[in-house]
Amino acid sequence: MKRILFVLAIVALSAPMAFAAAPSVVSGTGPLTSQYHSYDGLICTDCHTLHGSENGAAVSAGAGAGNWAGGAGYRELLKKGDWTDMCLSCHKEGYNTSATADLPSVVNSGWTAPIVMTLNGTEPAGVSLPAGDFYYSNVDPKKGHNPAYTKGSMATATSKLMAADTTLGSTPPGGAITDSEWSCHSCHGMHSRFSGSYSAWRQIKRKVNGIVTTGDVSGLGVETVVPSDVQNASYEPIKSNSRGDIQGTNYVNLRKDGNALQGADLLADYSDTNKNIYQGGFSSFCSACHGDFHGGNGEARTADNAKTRVNSTWIKHPTNVTMDMSTGSKYGITTYKAAVTNAQGTNPNPVGYDWRYPLVKADADFTVKSTVASMTDAATLATTDRMSCLTCHKAHASQYENMTRWDTNAHSFIANGATDFEGQVSTGDNPAYGCGKCHQKGGAKAYIKAF
Ligand code: HEC
Ligand code: HEC
Ligand code: HEC
Ligand code: HEC
Ligand code: HEC
Ligand code: HEC
Repeated sequence: MKRILFVLAIVALSAPMAFAAAPSVVSGTGPLTSQYHSYDGLICTDCHTLHGSENGAAVSAGAGAGNWAGGAGYRELLKKGDWTDMCLSCHKEGYNTSATADLPSVVNSGWTAPIVMTLNGTEPAGVSLPAGDFYYSNVDPKKGHNPAYTKGSMATATSKLMAADTTLGSTPPGGAITDSEWSCHSCHGMHSRFSGSYSAWRQIKRKVNGIVTTGDVSGLGVETVVPSDVQNASYEPIKSNSRGDIQGTNYVNLRKDGNALQGADLLADYSDTNKNIYQGGFSSFCSACHGDFHGGNGEARTADNAKTRVNSTWIKHPTNVTMDMSTGSKYGITTYKAAVTNAQGTNPNPVGYDWRYPLVKADADFTVKSTVASMTDAATLATTDRMSCLTCHKAHASQYENMTRWDTNAHSFIANGATDFEGQVSTGDNPAYGCGKCHQKGGAKAYIKAF
């Protein structure tokens, strides 16, 4: 297993070199694909048990045991019956190393998995959870997704590590689930970093809820694998790449077009210099289940779409529109970066791309880099930037209702010295906060009235 650790170290070390012209090729002897969770990554029997038997006893161990067929062996020969519990056996804080995984007979090969659920809502130092913390939705289902229904059990929640949403159950607002599960595996695959079935962004499935939202995107430089499923033209593919490419027999720690990978390092703190960069159909992805909330991949101010824009007016918040204001819009890139006048004499609203309110960059726009600060760089904002569902929401859960990034049940203002939703201290009274980031409805002057 030493070799795997060594390879991981090379991958980690080569990341900062990604801007150099030469591709960052990871090679070595023997099969070397970096295709976690399979081949040279995780071992098949970390997750699967061939006969449901270990030391003469039924495999039924850990916090999620006995939650489906119960002891007599589980479907797909897995060590737990519930698919979400399978994932959390390695992705929950405390279970996230090969020494502590909540599964029997995992080979202690030295891996550390990124966490998606903490023990108490506090992000440990030195890791990031850009999709948010399932701790919050687990204790209060209003605060995010509660994927607690394994394949084939849409009526009855089966997860022991994830509480079900007692109000919504397994039904998405504005849509329906058609592929008979509401689990981590509704959105992600687990066998490889990318493949015909999984996109190169965080192993998001190309086919979500029965819809191929991301097909062959190799022409966009994302990766080389040709998927068997054909892209549904009504959906826009995810074009960001956090997982690299295979060129010939080498794993390359870059996009196919030579640009740097766009995912934040999950084993480091999230910040302006370690952030996700979004390109392509992040709104399309969400609309595979919440279709009524999205005007389609052509959503624009100039055309009605029956869902969000009717009779030339918005009836639901736009999501995929450009931030261009030349089309007669009152809101967009100008209001996003509006200078604020306050009593402290500072301008707390950054002039550049603000990672706390992420936008989707145009396909060929690589001005914003994952590892380079952009808030202070005015050149990182463009009129071709778009809004997406992820501008306002996290993908898993947040500390706020409806898994919004900021508390939408509070005022769109942050006072000098107060800490914002990403833990950053405001450098002055700021009306460009929350909804006010793009809609300074009281104007751009900060003024606190003593009631
Ligand atoms: C991280 C845990 C994990 C690892 C490691 C893993 N699997 Fe799986 N496997 C699963 C889960 C969860 C499912 C059920 C979900 C699905 O079918 O996509 C599954 C399903 C399967 C299936 C049935 C569905 C299909 O795709 O045909 C096969 C076969 C399989 N795995 C083989 C393997 C082999 C071989 C390896 C090693 C190269 C492996 N698995 C490694 C978790 C894992
Ligand atoms: C046996 C432990 C184990 C299980 C079970 C497991 N994972 Fe993982 N997972 C890992 C490790 C280790 C990594 C880090 C290696 C890597 O990034 O390729 C990882 C990485 C990931 C990533 C990529 C994060 C990134 O860097 O972008 C995703 C997404 C993911 N897992 C999803 C899942 C899902 C969904 C399941 C359940 C179907 C699952 N995992 C089950 C161990 C596990
Ligand atoms: C509704 C779809 C959905 C479900 C359900 C879901 N994820 Fe994710 N997950 C995403 C998306 C989208 C991202 C990327 C978020 C981003 O880029 O902002 C992500 C990111 C991740 C990452 C990378 C870390 C991070 O915070 O970005 C891991 C690991 C992961 N998911 C594992 C899981 C596991 C384990 C589960 C089940 C407990 C799960 N996911 C359930 C959509 C989902
Ligand atoms: C595979 C289907 C699926 C996808 C894809 C999906 N969702 Fe959901 N979503 C659901 C289901 C089912 C529920 C209701 C049950 C729950 O909250 O767990 C839900 C609930 C929600 C809620 C309400 C949470 C609450 O409890 O009040 C929000 C907000 C949301 N989703 C946003 C998103 C965003 C943003 C994305 C894209 C990153 C997304 N969803 C992608 C299935 C999905
Ligand atoms: C401009 C910010 C913003 C954008 C963009 C946005 N949302 Fe929301 N969303 C919110 C807020 C705020 C709420 C909760 C309060 C409300 O509805 O007024 C919410 C609520 C939700 C809910 C819960 C509805 C319910 O019945 O409880 C879902 C689901 C959801 N959003 C999905 C999406 C999806 C999918 C997209 C992209 C197509 C999206 N949102 C884009 C701000 C946004
Ligand atoms: C990242 C920027 C951004 C954020 C944050 C944002 N919006 Fe918007 N909003 C826009 C854009 C862009 C439009 C479309 C403007 C247009 O087409 O003229 C819009 C449109 C609207 C409209 C319709 C305006 C009209 O002319 O019909 C309303 C109302 C609205 N937003 C309310 C909100 C609320 C409430 C919040 C916070 C929960 C919010 N927005 C957060 C960018 C944003």
